Amino acid sequence: MDLNVKTLNQQLVPHKGFKLINGTHDPDDVDQIYNLEIRDSDVFVVTYPKSGTIWMQQILLLFEAKGDVTAISKLNNYSNADLIPWIEVNGNRQAFITAPSPRLRVTHLQQHFMPAALSQRKGKVIYVARNPKDVLVSYFYFHKVANMLETPKDFDDFFEKFMRGDVYGCSWFDHIKTWYSHKDDMNMLFITYEEMIQDLHSAVQKISLFLGKELTDEQLANVVKHSTFNNMKKIPQANYEQVPGDLLNHHQGTFMRKGTIGDWKNHFTVAQNERFDEVFQREMKDFALSFVWDIKDIENQLLAL
Ligand code: PPS
Repeated sequence: MDLNVKTLNQQLVPHKGFKLINGTHDPDDVDQIYNLEIRDSDVFVVTYPKSGTIWMQQILLLFEAKGDVTAISKLNNYSNADLIPWIEVNGNRQAFITAPSPRLRVTHLQQHFMPAALSQRKGKVIYVARNPKDVLVSYFYFHKVANMLETPKDFDDFFEKFMRGDVYGCSWFDHIKTWYSHKDDMNMLFITYEEMIQDLHSAVQKISLFLGKELTDEQLANVVKHSTFNNMKKIPQANYEQVPGDLLNHHQGTFMRKGTIGDWKNHFTVAQNERFDEVFQREMKDFALSFVWDIKDIENQLLAL
């Protein structure tokens, strides 16, 4: 989430079929992202919030450092967002124009705001998708931590907001469907949070191949090692623990919370789950995308091997 903002204002402002956060995003500035010139070496990590953004940030930084985690901390004393910022946050578009290559950026924006050049196969896009029930739960907790987002009254209230798309990122369904339908006209890697949980090594290899990184087996193993949940949690810049308290209320929770699949089962009522499934079936019926909803499904698959 967008962390280098100077003013905090939790109001969501409708803008061209999306919602921006007042004070964090400037609609005129966001509109100019579309016209940015793109270099072949540019990489955009695209996510609906809470889908694995900071995980991919850490992996990309580790690629640049060839797995040397100490080299990253020497460059970066605040958070990984200093090195791989959100393009849509005030001031970051301007900085992108003159930044040295490779320009690595993250975004939660909808596809229609992003540089047109991406659709002419310039640059690369990594779309990280996560099962939306876990996204909803993770986002609920993050709203308590992030001061730029309105604190939810309770889980039920937040559930309704998420289902209405009344959150930053808007509708999870619209986000994934629009981006996914552009996957063939861009250089895009579509990867899921769940496949990263299931086999991080294979996922890292896949990302490395997509980005054309030439790393030795040892370097690749180090990328994996320093991007596991437990290891990332120990790195202050990777888990955002040094972000000032006026932006993140560290007493309310951590950016890296549980890092698993299926926590929604501890939060959804039976009725909420049935409703979610119904909406999911309806919204996703034309998209051949399947998600892992329970960590046990992965564990059972591994046992069967
Ligand atoms: S944000 O605010 O949109 O940038 O958040 P985002 O980074 O997309 O999502 C945060 C969730 O990702 C989890 N996470 C990880 N899970 C497993 N392994 C690793 N290494 C990892 N890094 C981040 C993080 O814990 C948040 O999920 P929840 O379910 O809340 O734990």
